Amino acid sequence: MSTELNEPVAHPPSASPPGPSRRTFIVTTTAVGGAAVAGGLVTAQPPPGAEETAAAEAAPTSRVTLTVNRKRHTVTIDNRTSLLDLLREHLGLTGSKKGCDAGACGACTVLADGHRVNSCLTLAVRLEGAEITTIEGLADGDRLHPLQQAFIDEDAFQCGYCTPGQIMSGIGCIQEGHTGSEEEIREWMSGNICRCGCYVKIVRAVERAAGGK
Ligand code: FES
Ligand code: FES
Repeated sequence: MSTELNEPVAHPPSASPPGPSRRTFIVTTTAVGGAAVAGGLVTAQPPPGAEETAAAEAAPTSRVTLTVNRKRHTVTIDNRTSLLDLLREHLGLTGSKKGCDAGACGACTVLADGHRVNSCLTLAVRLEGAEITTIEGLADGDRLHPLQQAFIDEDAFQCGYCTPGQIMSGIGCIQEGHTGSEEEIREWMSGNICRCGCYVKIVRAVERAAGGK
């Protein structure tokens, strides 16, 4: 008998080693979120975020009644819902835009009890009984609000994304009496960003509407 029979059998370089292949290992660990233990045993773990999802499902809700553009609404919402999300996702009023969702751009500006607010930063549950005005509530039938008309007359927009927020903020600016000069308007409209850079014409539109021109 040949002594070769007693020698360990070597795997050819291309043969798969015993146990799970690299492919099997990667597929298995990926499927369970990367959880693996020595010896190839895999322990199923909840995927990342599963606990947050469960917590979100159990989030407390509240009923809130508020008037939007002269129409009364009662809705049950997650307590964390912003006024902007209430308007856009629950009431279908998508005129108010979500630019930054962090209070930095002004695209979401609406009036709450006559005061301009960033609706992305305003919790809807705190507005029980409030009167909200959005861009959709300004026109009287086919007759535009004077500031809407002034934006058209002054050609004060390009893409229009910031325009609803600019107009609502401009109305607040006029009502607050901050229209004494171009500089004053610029200062009091500075929370509204226009990525198209229409500031000169926006200021002119606010001036025009403030002066009843
Ligand atoms: S979306 Fe509210 S400030 Fe930008
Ligand atoms: S018109 Fe485009 S962002 Fe203002």
